[in-house]
Amino acid sequence: MIITVDGPAAAGKGTLSQKLADKYGLAYFDTGMVYRAVGLMMVKNSFDLADASVAENMATQLTFAKMMELSKDKDFRSSLGGNAASIVSSYSGVRSRLLDMQRNFAKNPTFANGTPAQGVIYDGRDTGTVICPQADVKFFITASSEVRAKRRYDEFVQKGMNVQYEDVLKDVIARDERDANRKDAPMKPAKDAVILDTSDMGIDEVFQKSVAIIEEMLK
Ligand code: C5P
Repeated sequence: MIITVDGPAAAGKGTLSQKLADKYGLAYFDTGMVYRAVGLMMVKNSFDLADASVAENMATQLTFAKMMELSKDKDFRSSLGGNAASIVSSYSGVRSRLLDMQRNFAKNPTFANGTPAQGVIYDGRDTGTVICPQADVKFFITASSEVRAKRRYDEFVQKGMNVQYEDVLKDVIARDERDANRKDAPMKPAKDAVILDTSDMGIDEVFQKSVAIIEEMLK
């Protein structure tokens, strides 16, 4: 079984995807990681994030193992890493270089410990439209920018990071704009995606709704 969960930054895709992966015994691929990895390679090497061809070159060098290694870096999940990811992900060359790595995962999905899985759950922006249009169930999870910024802000505070809500909100809005306006694979729900606005829902409610939809679709 293949499930895709797309939507804007901080909509709750990651938490939902992980819960669904646990419930259905699926491997989980957080596709934002490929762009975070390339963004971080640029930052660590002091390369100019505005240089699309260097970013494309970094994307060519990225392997799954290297991505996992980079994910241990303290900046991988920080605003710095997120911002770098957002910029490099707007380059068509970067996106096309990273297609195979994302698509191939569904051919041979494995859990983090290397054991094979029965299927995969993709979390991203274009996984239902570009990476895996043949997915069995597709979700597009969204929420207002203020709600998403508050969730991300709370996450950062919980991790002991020193951030201002207004800065997180600005960052969320800037990322939305880049995601929606890039020429290649702009973020939009797949035609056959179920759209869930989670602004007024807790994670448990979102999870229960999603499970009900999956059960109905698999009938
Ligand atoms: O989801 P996450 O915040 O980790 O994604 C980092 C950045 O990667 C996003 O801001 C988005 O621009 C980009 N991205 C993308 N396509 C995906 C996943 C993430 O363009 N499938």
